Amino acid sequence: MNIEPLQLFLDIATEAALAGGAVLQSYWGKLESIQEKGRPGDLLTEADRASEAQVLAVIQRHFPNHAILAEESGQLGDQAAEYLWAIDPLDGTTNYAHQYPFYGVSIGLLIRGVPSVGVVFAPFHQELFRAAKGLGATRNRQPMHVSQTAALAQSLLVTGFAYDRRETADNNYAEFCHLTHLTQGVRRGGSAAIDLAYVACGRLDGFWERGLSPWDMAAGVVLVEEAGGQVTAYDGGPFQIQTGRILATNGRIHAALSQELLQVKPLPEFQPQ
Ligand code: IPD
Ligand code: CA
Ligand code: CA
Repeated sequence: MNIEPLQLFLDIATEAALAGGAVLQSYWGKLESIQEKGRPGDLLTEADRASEAQVLAVIQRHFPNHAILAEESGQLGDQAAEYLWAIDPLDGTTNYAHQYPFYGVSIGLLIRGVPSVGVVFAPFHQELFRAAKGLGATRNRQPMHVSQTAALAQSLLVTGFAYDRRETADNNYAEFCHLTHLTQGVRRGGSAAIDLAYVACGRLDGFWERGLSPWDMAAGVVLVEEAGGQVTAYDGGPFQIQTGRILATNGRIHAALSQELLQVKPLPEFQPQ
């Protein structure tokens, strides 16, 4: 793909992310409705819906023929379309609902299934992370790069736990314990999109998670790759967004982290509820 449409997609994604972020700030600390969507802890607020409406309005105004997969609206248009926007209008809803300021808007564009444009906007901190394939990655419009950390023992990682964590032994607890012992620490940010943005800008050295949705990852994948990092499946094979699993690092610790993830033994005491 030549540069021009990618730049246009990036600029429109930015406009949409800023619009969504402004909505999130307008509701910050003023929520009237916090519901559980299904599983315990999976929250939905009026801010999620209002942000999504703004984001969709911008994308649909500019690209009426593109397909959309948005967390609150679901699928709009043909999911096999050449251009598919994967949108999370509020990634980190639990944080947001508790006024813990780690959340953002995530807008990714898949072109023929390949994550190609990504914008993550963290409105509380006014941090705008942007990237498009071949165009590099920026934080607040300045070039950003992954960290140089070369050893797991010196690394700071991040992960998360999906809403089905009470129902499955494959809930990432064993991986969390295993990697906590091998590194300088493992954070649980509560926003996969911002976790990925933080890997991309070098604050964190690596991220892994399971049970994610395309809208959590599509933008962040582009940020990490364009910032010089690596994104794969846990085993180092090609990243496939539909699996919900991701391993994203600065590249230098990638093989070591992959190897450790494959070696994790289940925690003996886990009992599904
Ligand atoms: C969640 C966040 C969280 C991750 C969950 C996601 P939401 O998204 O990204 O970090 O651990 O799996 O579902 O519900 O806040 O949009
Ligand atoms: Ca999300
Ligand atoms: Ca969300």
